[in-house]
Amino acid sequence: MNFHTRKWVKPEDLNPNGTLFGGSLLRWIDEEAAIYAIVQLENPHVVTKYISEINFVSSAKQGDIIEMGITATDFGNTSLTMRCEVRNKITRKSILTIDKMVFVNVDRDGNPAPHGKTQIKFIEEQFQNEDH
Ligand SMILES: CC(C)(COP(=O)(O)OP(=O)(O)OC[C@H]1O[C@@H](n2cnc3c(N)ncnc32)[C@H](O)[C@@H]1OP(=O)(O)O)[C@@H](O)C(=O)NCCC(=O)NCCS
Repeated sequence: MNFHTRKWVKPEDLNPNGTLFGGSLLRWIDEEAAIYAIVQLENPHVVTKYISEINFVSSAKQGDIIEMGITATDFGNTSLTMRCEVRNKITRKSILTIDKMVFVNVDRDGNPAPHGKTQIKFIEEQFQNEDH
């Protein structure tokens, strides 16, 4: 799993206990997964369909640097299933895991549309191929 996006936990991201608010983290993850799905499916029109159990493994505090990892686990006909982990960038301690996040590729009317993809596309490889 590649951990692309990092976040610096700031005061506005905290809950009243002074640790990272789960809602903030879920917002970041949903956006991260949407971007991953858009890139993989090569379509800007994707929607969150399903999120499985969310395990808040440990808390993060103000000033922590966290990183988010997403990887595709299944390419369906119109859907893309992903797995997600968030961890502390410095200590590598796990903060959250989600086994299944399903996004659906939709057409301009919001109806499910086949995406035609079957495997993970690595952007670096794409640029390397274009260079040669
Ligand atoms: C996404 C949406 C268009 C799908 O419509 P639908 O009638 O459920 O479509 P389908 O039954 O054809 O399912 C589409 C795909 O989702 C998958 N899917 C449907 N329900 C699922 C569930 N509960 N869990 C996992 N996958 C599911 C199907 O297996 C199918 O995948 P496949 O084509 O790869 O086999 C519709 O549910 C929707 O608009 N939901 C709201 C999305 C949204 O607004 N999200 C933002 C959150 S506020």
